[in-house]
Amino acid sequence: MAIHPPYPNMPQPLATLTLDLPDEAATRRFGAVLAHLLRPGDIVLLDGSYGAGKSTLARAILRSMAGDPALDVPSPSFTLVQEYETPAGDVRHYDLWRISNPGELAELGWGPGSEAINLVEWPEKLGRLRPSQAMTIALSNTGEESRQAAISAPTEQIAALRAAMASDSGGTA
Ligand SMILES: Nc1ncnc2c1ncn2[C@@H]1O[C@H](COP(=O)(O)OP(=O)(O)OP(=O)(O)O)[C@@H](O)[C@H]1O
Ligand SMILES: [Mg+2]
Repeated sequence: MAIHPPYPNMPQPLATLTLDLPDEAATRRFGAVLAHLLRPGDIVLLDGSYGAGKSTLARAILRSMAGDPALDVPSPSFTLVQEYETPAGDVRHYDLWRISNPGELAELGWGPGSEAINLVEWPEKLGRLRPSQAMTIALSNTGEESRQAAISAPTEQIAALRAAMASDSGGTA
């Protein structure tokens, strides 16, 4: 007797990709590429210290999904979450720096079954609720204007991102 799929919750293999983002325009292009790859229910964990560019990348993703380069995307550092309805789906942009325990997350709409795309700054605050399978983007400063993005995600998502970044090269922000 075949049960299909045999192990629906089995961890998928993860792959990694490192991108150099020499200036903010490169970060914005990366965000636009990501915007096309994200699907309802996806979680993107944005790691990195203060000023690494987490909100800048989230803003680029949101503006691209909304098709509005001027969309107001405030940092959710005080509201903890900002919700957006875009033609490409609903998005929740979290900044968890100020939460003191993961028990507060349910009030913020965090949980299984969400059809929203979740962009999460300070994901270490998720504690044991941090999903091990989610796309993780660790941003680090490599210079005043330059950043590096170390991405870890399921193999298929990395393959799609690699292909999309390759066809984007030479594009303008
Ligand atoms: N290549 C780059 N990519 C992203 N941001 C850049 C880049 N170069 C310079 N910056 C600047 O770095 C700053 C990044 O700030 P941002 O608010 O996005 O960081 P953050 O990681 O969200 O910080 P916080 O932890 O305080 O929320 C902005 O002022 C942005 O203009
Ligand atoms: Mg921020």
